[in-house]
Amino acid sequence: MPATVIVGAQWGDEGKGKIVDLLAQDSDLVCRYQGGPNAGHTIVVGEETYKIRALPTGIVRGKICVIGNGCVIDPEVLIAELDEFERRGHSTENVFVSGNAHLIMPWHLAIDSASERRLGKLAIGTTRRGIGPCYADKAARIGIRVQDILDPKILRQKIEVALAEKNLWLERVYETKPFELGEVAGRLEEHAQRIRPYVADTSLLVDRALKEGQSVLFEGAQATLLDLDHGTYPFVTSSNPVAAYAAVGVGIGAKRLDRVLGVSKAYVTRVGEGPFPSEIEGPDQERMRELGGEYGTVTGRIRRCGWLDLVALRYAVRVNGIDQLALTKLDVLSHFDELPVCVRYELPDGTETEDFPAHQSDFHAARPVYETLPGWDEPLDTCETIGDLPANARSYVEFVERELDVEVQLVGTGAERTNVLTRA
Ligand code: IMP
Repeated sequence: MPATVIVGAQWGDEGKGKIVDLLAQDSDLVCRYQGGPNAGHTIVVGEETYKIRALPTGIVRGKICVIGNGCVIDPEVLIAELDEFERRGHSTENVFVSGNAHLIMPWHLAIDSASERRLGKLAIGTTRRGIGPCYADKAARIGIRVQDILDPKILRQKIEVALAEKNLWLERVYETKPFELGEVAGRLEEHAQRIRPYVADTSLLVDRALKEGQSVLFEGAQATLLDLDHGTYPFVTSSNPVAAYAAVGVGIGAKRLDRVLGVSKAYVTRVGEGPFPSEIEGPDQERMRELGGEYGTVTGRIRRCGWLDLVALRYAVRVNGIDQLALTKLDVLSHFDELPVCVRYELPDGTETEDFPAHQSDFHAARPVYETLPGWDEPLDTCETIGDLPANARSYVEFVERELDVEVQLVGTGAERTNVLTRA
């Protein structure tokens, strides 16, 4: 398929990086279309572990890598990552950054932290990477874009305009230190030298690639339930991870997207605050966290763990138009005798539903209705295809397919790049 979107179907951390890495083998371009360094993808190749935050995962396989207009970029993170890949022997000459992407400025980081502190108990639990404040400025039309670094005069003017307002907020509302124009501009001018060669018209580049029949992957960051419009607002990120945004965030027509592959863990995790109906109560919560290594790549925070939630996953299938699923980390479930799967929610009025509640008060009060499937204790690491899975593991996968009416095309069984089972 020429244009495939890979989208997180839960609350993030589904292992999208590994699936993108696998599919990137047969692709020409890998594009990020939203988000910024709040994402953290881990790719394990033999002895080497790559932790990627800004660049598309395709960098590990030397593919053409595009950071689209829908992304936000922290120049320091991007430069550190470019330097690191070059140090490890990977060329970065095929990295292209949209001039329309927005830059995360130091005040965005400061405001993200200060605003979380101020919210106290109502805090969102952001990654504190400046994502929300940067997208807010984009919408308010006072953001600084990558193309601004191409002209030092414009850059300084824009920083001056932004600082005049941001410093007021920082000092008067958040009672923190203001930023100094000369220092911020000086640092960014330095970064500009390093980033300049990568700036390109990425919309044109991707359009041409598709016209030539090249194969393009659109790599979602975060996930459906963290989507600004379709997620569990306000406990969401400030961009649109859903698949349709791949077209907007890269600058191609909506009809150019051919296939949507959803990525879901075989259970659920969530970082940060917010409702989570199938969150595990009792010692299995800790057990699953340890078995799955469920600690944040970016912040090191613990991830809350839950049983697979098919109500939420059915919703993800709907809002993304998911054609096929990749079910990751099935091996983590090998150690449980019984596996509850949430098939419906019970709502406050006593009714049960298979459909994700449209309103927050229903979702906040929703109680999971479980069907319990038998576990398995055979190891999965000797399996080569989905058909090789032990009978109960196979039944688990088939149960998901039946309930969602979507084919599970890939199954993840371990951290290594090779631990992904296919159908054939
Ligand atoms: P922000 O994106 O830093 O503004 O954080 C908003 C919410 O999204 C918080 O609950 C974060 O924990 C969550 N979040 C952001 N990025 C990721 C991710 O890559 N994985 C999981 N959760 C994320």
